[in-house]
Amino acid sequence: DRALSIAAVVGATALALTGCGGGSGAAGGGGTLRLALNQTEEHPSFIALEDFGNRLTEGTDGRWGIEVYANETLGAQQEALQLVGADTVDMAIVAGPQLENLNEEFVAFNLPLVFDSIDHQMNVINNPDITGDLYSSLEDQNISVLGGLTAGTRNIYTSEGPITEPADLDGMKIRVQESPIHTEMIERMGGSATPMAYGEVYTALQSGVLDGAENNEVSYMTQKHYEVAGYFARTEHLIVPDYLVMSTERLADMSEADRAVFDAEWSAAIGEHTELWTGATDEAIAEAEAAGVQFNDVDDETFRAAVEPLVDQSLTSDTIRELYETTRAAAE
Ligand code: GCU
Repeated sequence: DRALSIAAVVGATALALTGCGGGSGAAGGGGTLRLALNQTEEHPSFIALEDFGNRLTEGTDGRWGIEVYANETLGAQQEALQLVGADTVDMAIVAGPQLENLNEEFVAFNLPLVFDSIDHQMNVINNPDITGDLYSSLEDQNISVLGGLTAGTRNIYTSEGPITEPADLDGMKIRVQESPIHTEMIERMGGSATPMAYGEVYTALQSGVLDGAENNEVSYMTQKHYEVAGYFARTEHLIVPDYLVMSTERLADMSEADRAVFDAEWSAAIGEHTELWTGATDEAIAEAEAAGVQFNDVDDETFRAAVEPLVDQSLTSDTIRELYETTRAAAE
């Protein structure tokens, strides 16, 4: 099962590190970086990260490579993040809420209404003038945040529907990511929030443990949630980033020249991912419609009014407020 396969990979990592004398240390090293991903191999993140790895190998004459482990085989996000911190797994893609649990300042980019569009989000989350010291704030936990990918616009989908206003969610158990803010968001919308790891959602929807979930169209399709929750309400309530995180120690193993290649190819991967995203979203919608999913618009104003108080309430420090305000100022 999964726990066993995680143990096997982690064991193999430990052996590999012993084999080459400890891994961290002399700059100029190399190796295959193990990257934990919770998406399938069809997802734009898998495709863009694989391409990133191939270009990294080419650009460093084979010194560095990336092996992307899809489908949570290295653990769900919470676990993967811990393994990166422990320098056991080299890299992971984790959603904003996971980092919010380590440093609350990340909440600024996880709030409803903070980004107007995916373009706006992408202009902010990889702009050091706005992100400031946020991405180096976890280095004392051995976690370097290297930047972000869009995780699309999130919507609510349910097994019974349609949902057109918050009142329709009354009594419904809706899965959220492991985030206090997102839990409160669903409660304010009138649903009953259930935090859960991504990979468990399909079975929970199927068995009726959940009445619904919220995600982007690409995840809805690639995780096959459409098979068990056929009503998709376009709430567009969140645009949350996914971050690439890496073991700070492992990153320090890279020579300056290899690091420059790494940074350039990661930037290129962000661009490729953003381009793939639109096409993947259109495809997911078309496939879901063909499978009989019912998409509907919602009463935007009532949803907006439900979550608006969350924003003010979350700006609990000068740093969070500044991140939020500079982000909003970049919206125009
Ligand atoms: C999206 C996002 C993931 C996240 C997932 C979730 O797929 O890209 O990073 O884990 O949603 O809802 O858990």
